[in-house]
Amino acid sequence: MKIEWVALVVASLLPCAALAGTAADMQAVADKNGCFACHGMQAKVIGPGFAEVAAKYKGDSQAADRLGKKIREGGKGVWGPVPMPAHGNLGEADARKLAEWVLSIG
Ligand code: HEC
Repeated sequence: MKIEWVALVVASLLPCAALAGTAADMQAVADKNGCFACHGMQAKVIGPGFAEVAAKYKGDSQAADRLGKKIREGGKGVWGPVPMPAHGNLGEADARKLAEWVLSIG
């Protein structure tokens, strides 16, 4: 609990949101970027639960590239008609790290 809290504080103090780091760091980055407004860790909110995304692309070696791009540029039609807005404020590397983290959620 304490460690997660510290990670959250560290992440929120940095001007650039994303850090290379542990799952707790990445969860803090996702939180800071508003991902949890639309995604649950497991369950669907507006977009699919992150665990559902990980299950869908299990074994797909191209998925991190594709999803990193989609997180930055937005898109729709994979999970339903509701689009995900673009997150152009995220750098390519940061979006890719978020995609890798989502894919690692079981
Ligand atoms: C305003 C709501 C909203 C926000 C904020 C949002 N998403 Fe999404 N996300 C969606 C929706 C809706 C979909 C389903 C899009 C589709 O069907 O293609 C989605 C899909 C996804 C997918 C799966 C894409 C695919 O092609 O299978 C990933 C990964 C994802 N979001 C990650 C993120 C991350 C990381 C963030 C934070 C930076 C984020 N989302 C913020 C609504 C949102």
